[in-house]
Amino acid sequence: MGLANDRVDLLEHGEIGEEASPDESTFWDEMVEHIEQRRAATVDPEEASFFNRPLSEHELVEWLSFQAYYELRACQFIGGWLATTPETDAMVLLAQQVEDEGNHYEYCMRALARRGVTSLDNWTPEPEWEEWIDGWYPSGADTIERVAAHNLTGELGACQAFLQISPRLPDDVRKAFDRIIPDEQFHMKLGRKIIQKYCVTDDDRARVLARVDRTFELEQAGRLAYNRRMARLGIADADDAQLPMP
Ligand SMILES: [Fe+2]
Ligand SMILES: [Fe+2]
Repeated sequence: MGLANDRVDLLEHGEIGEEASPDESTFWDEMVEHIEQRRAATVDPEEASFFNRPLSEHELVEWLSFQAYYELRACQFIGGWLATTPETDAMVLLAQQVEDEGNHYEYCMRALARRGVTSLDNWTPEPEWEEWIDGWYPSGADTIERVAAHNLTGELGACQAFLQISPRLPDDVRKAFDRIIPDEQFHMKLGRKIIQKYCVTDDDRARVLARVDRTFELEQAGRLAYNRRMARLGIADADDAQLPMP
């Protein structure tokens, strides 16, 4: 699925679409490479993997509940940034993202409703998820710190996890994620544009790297907490690795 035309226009022809210098355009790639190296260092190919075990309906409901919670929070915290985003070209792109994240929440809730779950009221996030998603993502001193945490580190992890788990999802859920994944890729692209344009000094780059590293660590803690929760629910072994979470 391609980007809607208005989005292509925003990214390629808007003010923020101006070409960055080669130095600026490689910094994002360096950060992606840095995250991928850190992730590779956590992977043991011999270890039992989430992807090796059947995805039960019980776990699917747990996973969708987590995704719905994450999408709702993303809609809320990005929406909360708009009034304090002085870079108007970045603000317009982030406003598009707010709508997307709200839609993603809705798609996850519809998938849950088909499974008899109509609200998250009785669902409680793990403390690590609250620290990562409710505390860390919304923080950030300025636009580049916010985007480094969420659009770069967070959405990279989410896209990779969604693509990896997609073949094992039931048809209705896979169709929902076939709509979500291109949006998340758009969010990475708009993050790249924002970082290219506004992350320009050594201090900016150091602040972005610090946000990337801390986000990665919180994501890893969040994945361990997911496993612990699945073990508590009798769904998985506590030492399983490689979970399909952002
Ligand atoms: Fe999303
Ligand atoms: Fe997103």
